[in-house]
Amino acid sequence: MKVLITGGTGDIGSAASKRFLDLGWDVHIIDLKDEFDMGQASYAKCNIMDFEDLKEQMQGCDAVVHMAAIRGPTLAPNEEVFRINVAGTFNVYEAAAQLGIKRVVQASSINAIGCVWSIGDIHPQYFPLDEEHPRFTTDSYSLSKQMVEDLAEYFYHRDGISGASFRFPWVYNREKHINDGYFERMRNNRDNVLALFEQSPQEQRERLERLSEEVLAFRKTRPLEYAQIKDGKHPFAQEHADPLWRFYAFDRFDYWVNLDDRDAAQAIEKSVTADYQGSHPLFVMAPNNTLGISSRKLANVFYPEVKTWKKDIQGAEALVSSNKARKLIGFDPQFQLTIPDA
Ligand SMILES: NC(=O)c1ccc[n+]([C@@H]2O[C@H](COP(=O)([O-])OP(=O)(O)OC[C@H]3O[C@@H](n4cnc5c(N)ncnc54)[C@H](O)[C@@H]3O)[C@@H](O)[C@H]2O)c1
Repeated sequence: MKVLITGGTGDIGSAASKRFLDLGWDVHIIDLKDEFDMGQASYAKCNIMDFEDLKEQMQGCDAVVHMAAIRGPTLAPNEEVFRINVAGTFNVYEAAAQLGIKRVVQASSINAIGCVWSIGDIHPQYFPLDEEHPRFTTDSYSLSKQMVEDLAEYFYHRDGISGASFRFPWVYNREKHINDGYFERMRNNRDNVLALFEQSPQEQRERLERLSEEVLAFRKTRPLEYAQIKDGKHPFAQEHADPLWRFYAFDRFDYWVNLDDRDAAQAIEKSVTADYQGSHPLFVMAPNNTLGISSRKLANVFYPEVKTWKKDIQGAEALVSSNKARKLIGFDPQFQLTIPDA
C-alpha cells in the first residue's frame, strides 16, 4: 500500500504516518517544512496550492490521506482559512481524480456542524449527535469543513473516489498535550460542575442565565477570529467572578468529546483499507466524555432545550455517536482520558 499524507508533519498526520509505517506501508509525506524525518517515510516540501507539484507527489499512490489545513479560525485571516482549506482540498481530490486514485480520506472536523468557534450559541436538536444532524456553521473554519465534506461527495459522484471525512473532536497526543496543568483544569471543571449540580434549580437557572447572557454577547464580538487574537492568549482565559465562566463560554461548545491521536490514526488506517463505496462524514470519538461524569446530566443542565434522545446513553458515554464509523470501517477506540486524583 503506497499512501500520500498531506500535512503529514502535523499532529494527526504524523500519528497516522507512524501507524502506517508500523504496518509496513510505503508512506510519502508532504508539508510546508523544508525537511522532516519520519523513519522510513519519504518526505517532500509541497504546498497543496501548487497543483502540478501536488499531482507529481501523488504519482503511484494507492490512496491519499489529506490532513493539510489551517486548523482553526484563530490562525489565519478568514480568506486564507477558506482558500487553503477549501481550494487546497479541491486540488487534492482533483489531482487524485486525474491520476485515477479511488480512495481519498480527509480531515473534516466536529466543527463541520458548527460548534467550538460559533459566533452564537449552538442548538443541538437531539443527543447523541450523529451524522444526520443539520449543520449550522458561522465561522470560516467550520464553513471550510462543511465545504470539504461537500467536495468529497462531489468527487465521489464525478470520479468514483470513495472515502471518509473525519469529524474529529479535539485530538490530543498523550505526551505532547496532556500534562498536570491540563488535568488540573479538568478537575476544576468537574468540581465546579458537580457543585453546580448541587445548587437548587432556581439558583442554577439564574446562574446559567447570567452566564449565557454574558457569553453570547462576548461570542458575538467574534473573539475567536485571527484579527481578535492578542498575544496568542486564549480569548476565554480571562479572569471572571464565576469559576464556571470558561467552561460555560468555551468547553461546553464541543460537547466534552475528545480522541487520542492513536485512535485517530486507527480510524484513518481503517478508512483507507475497509471495503466500502461512497463519501462519508464520520464522527470518531473516545467512548466517554472528558469529565467522566453523567452525560445526560451535563446535557440536561447545559442544553436544557434538548428533549430528544435518539438512543439511551449510560454514565459518561459520549454525547456524539461514533456508531456510523464503527459500522462502516470498524472503528474501535482503545484509549480514554481519565482525570487522575490530585
Ligand atoms: N487536532 C485536532 O484537534 C483537530 C480536530 C478536528 C479537526 N482537525 C483537522 O485535522 C487535520 C490535521 O490537524 P492537525 O491537528 O494535525 O493540524 P496541524 O496544524 O498539526 O497539521 C496540519 C499540517 O498542514 C500543513 N499545511 C498547512 N497548509 C498547508 C499547505 N498549503 N500545503 C501543505 N501543507 C500545509 C501544516 O504545515 C501542518 O503541518 C486538519 O484538517 C484539522 O483541521 C484537527
